[in-house]
Amino acid sequence: MKISVIGTGYVGLVSGACFAQMGNSITCVDIDEKKIASLEEGIIPIYEPGLEEMVLENYKSGTLAFTTDAKTAIANSRICFIAVGTPMGEDGSADLQYVLAVAKTIGESMEDYLVVVDKSTVPVGTADKVRDTIQAALDTRGVDIEFDVVSNPEFLKEGAAIQDFMRPDRVVIGADNQKALDIMHDLYAPFMKTRDRFIAMDIKSAEMTKYTANAMLATKISFMNEISNICERVGADVNQVRNGIGSDSRIGYSFIYPGCGYGGSCFPKDVQALAKTAKDYGYEPKILDAVEAVNYAQKKVISTKVINHFGTDLKGKTFAVWGLAFKPETDDMREASAITIINELTALGAEIVAYDPKARHEAENHYLKDNDNVRYEDSKYDVLKNADALILVTEWQEFRSPDFDEVKKLLKSPIFFDGRNQFDKKRMNEIGFEYYQVGVNV
Ligand SMILES: NC(=O)c1ccc[n+]([C@@H]2O[C@H](COP(=O)([O-])OP(=O)(O)OC[C@H]3O[C@@H](n4cnc5c(N)ncnc54)[C@H](O)[C@@H]3O)[C@@H](O)[C@H]2O)c1
Repeated sequence: MKISVIGTGYVGLVSGACFAQMGNSITCVDIDEKKIASLEEGIIPIYEPGLEEMVLENYKSGTLAFTTDAKTAIANSRICFIAVGTPMGEDGSADLQYVLAVAKTIGESMEDYLVVVDKSTVPVGTADKVRDTIQAALDTRGVDIEFDVVSNPEFLKEGAAIQDFMRPDRVVIGADNQKALDIMHDLYAPFMKTRDRFIAMDIKSAEMTKYTANAMLATKISFMNEISNICERVGADVNQVRNGIGSDSRIGYSFIYPGCGYGGSCFPKDVQALAKTAKDYGYEPKILDAVEAVNYAQKKVISTKVINHFGTDLKGKTFAVWGLAFKPETDDMREASAITIINELTALGAEIVAYDPKARHEAENHYLKDNDNVRYEDSKYDVLKNADALILVTEWQEFRSPDFDEVKKLLKSPIFFDGRNQFDKKRMNEIGFEYYQVGVNV
């Protein structure tokens, strides 16, 4: 099937590569000329396990192409995916300017029947806006071309995106007619060979499903973080509490790990966008606002522990930071807890020496580029030299079993603030660390 994917970011590039892998003919489009030029040279703009190999293989075999020419790509497609960003607007709502700009281009470019797929995470009612925008552009051209708009929210996780896309738990399609639904089913059938995981529903429910999934996961995290703050005050150990509740199959272990807050390109903006949608429709959300408020505060939990230990004047202090990405196995730093923690500490005079296996370039060139008090090293041990303490922010696998003798030797004193509760506190104390974690009273 001939498909155009408009927006070649985390979702667009992964979707394009995976559809191409199944033998479809894919054109990935972006307005970012530099990004497209790099992709054509075989340089992959993001880190995602398995992505580089898949993109290069399909680019070489001709099933995957890159262009800035949206018009031609759309004119030659049977399906057109919209996968551009929907960042948070000033009032918390999803900013639809990129989605609607693409819709206008689609109306200006399509030549034949087209299934237009909203893959970006968009609020309820966006499919109607996309349809109206396309129709207005067709009317301006004075042409009458049939098209359908469907909603196909994406559930991939950064860090496991290829795996999630190739073997999805479910494929949700919101559609209002059988023809579009059948085309989408044909497209996804190769990804569901062992069992059909296609869930068809109406468009608004599909749009709502994506926000509900993210809000549910964010709620679990914030709930557990709130419990961790209570544990800390009453003298309980949240790690033991987590074990105690996770063993209940109704609760489960996933997304109840306490830590220094969630970040990323989805949870923070999607929780707030859903809350804004609720308010727009006259409902005052209570849980969603609380989820966001708990997370905002949680990002400061580790810097507060550092301040409680070292005082509010951190001039002359240096902290080693392990991990900058919002989670392991990605270089994405959007809304990462590391940004809050580092900026809080440097505002009090501290120097930071940071290491992340993949996200250094994002920090240096974007998220922390204006912070002159941050230096970077290329190994987890190099950042420790003469640092006053170690702060773990992202739980990359390589931080799970470090050589603690080496860590102690390199640090000025063996003080360790663990924002992801990676180690057993008793054990860490036994091997000589002053060890602080989330939700455990020290
Ligand atoms: N990143 C994730 O893990 C994830 C998961 C599920 C859903 N989503 C949703 O998918 C959407 C895309 O997210 P992302 O992380 O891939 O975003 P991204 O910022 O990585 O990529 C968006 C791309 O769209 C391009 N773009 C913007 N306007 C364009 C236009 N008019 N024409 C062509 N290209 C244009 C940008 O240059 C950029 O390369 C968002 O709505 C997001 O909420 C993201």
